[in-house]
Amino acid sequence: MTESRMAVIDAVLDRLLDELLGLGRLLSPLCSLSVLLQLSALVVLLLLSLRVVCLLWSHAQFTRRLRCFSKPPTQNWLMGHLGEMRSTEEGLQAVDQLVRTYSHSCSWFLGPFYSLVRLFHPDYIKPLLLAPASITVKDELFYGFLRPWLGQSLLLSNGEDWSRRRRLLTPAFHFDILKNYVKIFNHSSDIMHSKWRRLVAEGESCQDMFSHISLMTLDSLLRCTFSYNSNCQESSSEYIAAIFELSTLVIERRGRILHHWDCLYWRSPEGQRFKQACSVVHGFTRTVVQERRAQLLHRGEPESHTDTTGGEEEKKKKRVADFIDLLLLSKDEDGHGLTDEEIKAEADTFMFGGHDTTASGISWVLYNLSQHQDYQDRCRAEVNDLLQDRKTEDLDWEDLSSLPFTTMCIKESLRLHSPVSAVTRQYTKDMAVPGGRVIPQGSICLVSIYGTHHNPEIWPDPDVYNPMRFDPENSKGRSSHAFIPFSSGPRNCIGQKFAMAELRVVVALTLRRFRLTPGGVEVRRLPHLVLRAEGGLWLTLETLEAPQD
Ligand code: HEM
Repeated sequence: MTESRMAVIDAVLDRLLDELLGLGRLLSPLCSLSVLLQLSALVVLLLLSLRVVCLLWSHAQFTRRLRCFSKPPTQNWLMGHLGEMRSTEEGLQAVDQLVRTYSHSCSWFLGPFYSLVRLFHPDYIKPLLLAPASITVKDELFYGFLRPWLGQSLLLSNGEDWSRRRRLLTPAFHFDILKNYVKIFNHSSDIMHSKWRRLVAEGESCQDMFSHISLMTLDSLLRCTFSYNSNCQESSSEYIAAIFELSTLVIERRGRILHHWDCLYWRSPEGQRFKQACSVVHGFTRTVVQERRAQLLHRGEPESHTDTTGGEEEKKKKRVADFIDLLLLSKDEDGHGLTDEEIKAEADTFMFGGHDTTASGISWVLYNLSQHQDYQDRCRAEVNDLLQDRKTEDLDWEDLSSLPFTTMCIKESLRLHSPVSAVTRQYTKDMAVPGGRVIPQGSICLVSIYGTHHNPEIWPDPDVYNPMRFDPENSKGRSSHAFIPFSSGPRNCIGQKFAMAELRVVVALTLRRFRLTPGGVEVRRLPHLVLRAEGGLWLTLETLEAPQD
């Protein structure tokens, strides 16, 4: 029984429920409510039974075909590993145990509903991540709940549609473009650091890194994407609140199996809140895109945004193209560009894919360095050496390659605390992995970034923070797929250079200006859409004087 058939049954069920509810309202004055209810219940019951038969059939098929993979013990044959995949500290420790026991992969059954292959070894994930995009599909179980927010964007599209978008979007991430954003990263860090100095002076030196840094990365992204100065680091904004709300609601929905069903979710209070937040976010993006399109038609060229980070004179001189400008101008080989709706979806995706991930990356680097004062001092010395004799503290694009030790510390943190813990895929044909094993077409493959980064076969003492692992000498002979915080292959992260540049600027400036020590609060990891810490990631800040050259 194929997935598509089940999707049809689901769609019919959804539709039917809608129709019945509508019909009920229309006919209730005319006929007995109880007859109508009985009729509805019968039809729904029939369709549900059909759905269950399909599920059990497909479950049996996958169970048979996945026998070549080790299967961790289950509570019973029907429920499988349902409930054992937890988004908590204990859930991550369970993955450690799985990796130690099975070393490369295992099968996983979420009741009779879904079966997965979990992979956590470079040799196993490499053929999957490098597979052509034409046979790779983003599964609906993990990505579907993002669709109402992000639409048919780069992250969620497949096949030819994805290839076209990726071709059109790639130039926007060329380093010639990205180097202009470094000024914005400096400026957003300056705002956050001024706030920190103020808080430390008021005696509030213990701060949750996540909340400050998320606002700072959103601030940067709003400027780079829309040239919008939201002032969000200083005052609240409806748009920012809506973005936070959507991220939380997506996670909540994943955890509630009944809410997986559209027809129930959109009637629930959470579904209503999701709709409301989506309309705020979409309204904002749509307005910017439409205004810029109008300017483009009117003036014949995009109204490049004014660089708001300099003085009045500078503002007049410098004009930097933002992502919206670039997307409006991009054309494929036939001269066709992106429509307004497509640009809106991509901009929403940059905001989603770019702010929390980078904030998580920065926060955990600062956390790891707070635990290792020796590495922190060495990074600080590197930044101070670089900036000595300079008139300003601003870092340039060219400076970023002069921070080798800081970069090693960042990479080791992305290994130990990867912001994205897994990506999932389906394939339109059987996929061979080592050991003569075959992943059947249509199975969900969960490529565990966390598991690969914590695999003791690849990384001895995987829980130890040791930046020297990324010394070029020590990296020789390591698999190209041992370190994959940005995934890899055709569907890797399009924003990775942007993210690495922002990470380097923010970490370098933070260490120059502050000493960080642990906040005295127990840290329990929280793998949500990105890796967070339960109750926040608290560090103590000590303001440092600028070194006298
Ligand atoms: C430390 C920061 C970041 C990390 C760890 C990260 C990680 C990832 C990962 C693992 C993927 C693959 C997702 C999948 O296969 O489902 C991905 C895809 C993507 N990322 Fe990032 N990302 C980061 C920053 C950014 C930024 C700054 C942007 C944009 C400004 C961005 C935009 C995207 C987009 C559009 C995709 C989809 C690419 C495609 O399917 O072709 N990311 N990212």
